[in-house]
Amino acid sequence: MRPRVTPIPPRLEIRNLIRSYDGRAVVRDVSLQVMAGQVTCLLGPSGCGKSTTLRMIAGVDMQDSGEIYVNGKLICDTVFRVPPERRSIGLMFQDFALFPHMNVAQNVEFGLNSQKSGGRDEKRARVEELLERVGMSRFIEAFPHQLSGGEQQRVALARALAPRPKIMLMDEPFSGLDNRLRDEIRDQTLAVLKEEDAAVLLVTHEPDEAMRMADEIALMRDGKIVQQGAPYNIYNAPKDIKSMSFFSDINKIEGVVHGALSVDTPFGQFLAPGVPDGGMVYIAIRPQHIKIDFDRDGHGPEPTPSDGVAARGVVIRARFMGSESLVEFRMDHDGSVIKATVPNVFLPKEGKALWLTIRRDRCFVFPKMPEDP
Ligand SMILES: Nc1ncnc2c1ncn2[C@@H]1O[C@H](COP(=O)(O)OP(=O)(O)O)[C@@H](O)[C@H]1O
Ligand SMILES: [Mg+2]
Repeated sequence: MRPRVTPIPPRLEIRNLIRSYDGRAVVRDVSLQVMAGQVTCLLGPSGCGKSTTLRMIAGVDMQDSGEIYVNGKLICDTVFRVPPERRSIGLMFQDFALFPHMNVAQNVEFGLNSQKSGGRDEKRARVEELLERVGMSRFIEAFPHQLSGGEQQRVALARALAPRPKIMLMDEPFSGLDNRLRDEIRDQTLAVLKEEDAAVLLVTHEPDEAMRMADEIALMRDGKIVQQGAPYNIYNAPKDIKSMSFFSDINKIEGVVHGALSVDTPFGQFLAPGVPDGGMVYIAIRPQHIKIDFDRDGHGPEPTPSDGVAARGVVIRARFMGSESLVEFRMDHDGSVIKATVPNVFLPKEGKALWLTIRRDRCFVFPKMPEDP
């Protein structure tokens, strides 16, 4: 006999959410699941419908259709609706506001006051525990105006987590902070969220932030989730050229498919399965996966199975970026520009001829769509 296993329902599940404003569809059939203890990032360009999705989950906006479940229980569809304050959802937004007339301890405790259970001592203990965890214990008596942006952000996190929400919704919570501080606060926030075991849905338009924070990324575009998976998979197996170029600069090499589903390019031949004869494709490759070789009397390196054929280009610009150098080439064969990044310092002179190869295991062949540039 097979053992009977009761599957654990996702902490948060949304199914087929749809929302239009003034007849314009903004969220168009979004479904996703977030497990307890997991961080899912809803990642996409500005205006694609991320905040609208979050607002419906929080219960401050209402979907036209679709359902929301917490621990497998329906909390909202178009008929039935648990009010926002009873959803056990913590919120954190960029323009979070601490109460200016309350000190840090009072601000965090405010998050607990809606709870019926727990006496004074218990509440105080929770406040102290959270402030310790976000590294703000020594500011317990301070008022918001005495704190930096990053410190205020930590208090806001403690306040949101105080009532032990089952779900945390965070909408671009770090975008008001400057770069270096942001990395530190992101890491600290992540550690605290993991300890609290909430399901976290974090909205961001920054791929770096999503890669850094997420267990899973849901990539959103024009009101739809176009791809979902672990950051490694989303980055290394993009579904289309738009998904790929959302994460970094890319180089596109155009080609036409002939005969045996293959494309001839100056970098050698590539397979293009599924693209009909005469169809246009892009070979897409990120700048860090281009190899650069010196010119030897007008010749480049010999072709290899892993790197294909080398093509020659002339340096038009080389810049040092801090941890890597970015070199731009104008290619001999068609005058197109290819960008390559190289670790550390590599600054060849303008006009120098060099040979480029592209790592075959790192390039993607996508059919060219009518809407592609
Ligand atoms: N209350 C509203 N009324 C009308 N249009 C709205 C409203 N809220 C959002 N929108 C529109 O919906 C689209 C998606 O907005 P939003 O969900 O805020 O995007 P994102 O958070 O991904 O930047 C935008 O074009 C925005 O102008
Ligand atoms: Mg938004």
